[in-house]
Amino acid sequence: MVQILELFGGIGSPRCALRNIGIPVKAIDYVEIDEKAVRSYNAMFSEELRYKTQSVVGWNLKPDILIHGSPCQDFSIAGHQGKAKAEGGRINRGKGADEGSGTRSSLMWETIHIIEQMGEWRPRYVIWENVKNVLSRYMRANFDRYIKEMERLGYSSSFKILDAREFGLPQARERVFTVSTLGEKAFSFDDLIKTPMRDIKEFLLPDAPPVYDVTQPSVLSVIGEKGIRRATVIQDYAYTITARQDRTPAQVIDMGNGRYRYLTELECWRLQGYTDEDFKAAAAVHEKNGRYKMALYKQAGNSIPVPIFESLFRKILLNQTMEVKK
Ligand SMILES: C[S@@+](CC[C@H](N)C(=O)[O-])C[C@H]1O[C@@H](n2cnc3c(N)ncnc32)[C@H](O)[C@@H]1O
Repeated sequence: MVQILELFGGIGSPRCALRNIGIPVKAIDYVEIDEKAVRSYNAMFSEELRYKTQSVVGWNLKPDILIHGSPCQDFSIAGHQGKAKAEGGRINRGKGADEGSGTRSSLMWETIHIIEQMGEWRPRYVIWENVKNVLSRYMRANFDRYIKEMERLGYSSSFKILDAREFGLPQARERVFTVSTLGEKAFSFDDLIKTPMRDIKEFLLPDAPPVYDVTQPSVLSVIGEKGIRRATVIQDYAYTITARQDRTPAQVIDMGNGRYRYLTELECWRLQGYTDEDFKAAAAVHEKNGRYKMALYKQAGNSIPVPIFESLFRKILLNQTMEVKK
């Protein structure tokens, strides 16, 4: 049994990964501010979340692994320029994640405080996922400080940009994964099990209802265009799944005869590695907001590819790695 603490828990990608690879898991806590994400999570794990009998003897609240995919809006260039605009056009790039800046991206410092508050106890592993921009010139100082703070708490850290396509999913999604290991020995990403990208046809519905058809002239007019206002036609893989699909920059599927459609909510969940059962459980507890169940798009867009966690946990907990050819 592995005990996890999920901060910024969303729809529970690490927990899904542990379940998928057959590791019994106890989420000793799950912390998430968005009511709709909590609703999905509860529906997906309804069987395990029920109170079961247990004894206080041997009970503990000490996580073996802490996972935090803290918000990234102010790390991303788009988010940052938006903020700068709101501040009267000044681009104050350095503030994206400064401690005490009040930005969403600075919430990762809360994780450091939470670990400090654990007293003597430390999780064996802390895994942090974020956008590639955390490594950019303007954000790097905060990224390096995070590593330093983890070092102060007794961890050795290593990080790597991982792309969902290397883990079987036909979605271009590059994110920085930082694994901090308690003690001197840092985690190596070199021998992670990777999987060939699967055919996108396995993920797409053969007969999506017409409600997903692109009808807005503003999107139809930019299909095939480049630049900020664009709609890219999906070929072998999808582009990064975002919180909304029906806004430019968009990605669309060419249905032939001049017909284009958006990805459905289910397709977005599949492209993040969720099972159809996970999706159905979550979909059952949400209403449509206009044409779509917008909360489900947002949850998929915010989430982390499940197979990446499967691979990380296989190595960390089961010692399963890629075989090195001799
Ligand atoms: C990048 S997503 C993480 C997704 C998650 N790891 C998953 O597997 O779906 C960041 C999450 O942090 C949540 N969040 C933002 N501010 C928060 C806060 N102050 N406390 C807790 N959660 C917060 C957001 O609602 C969002 O779901």
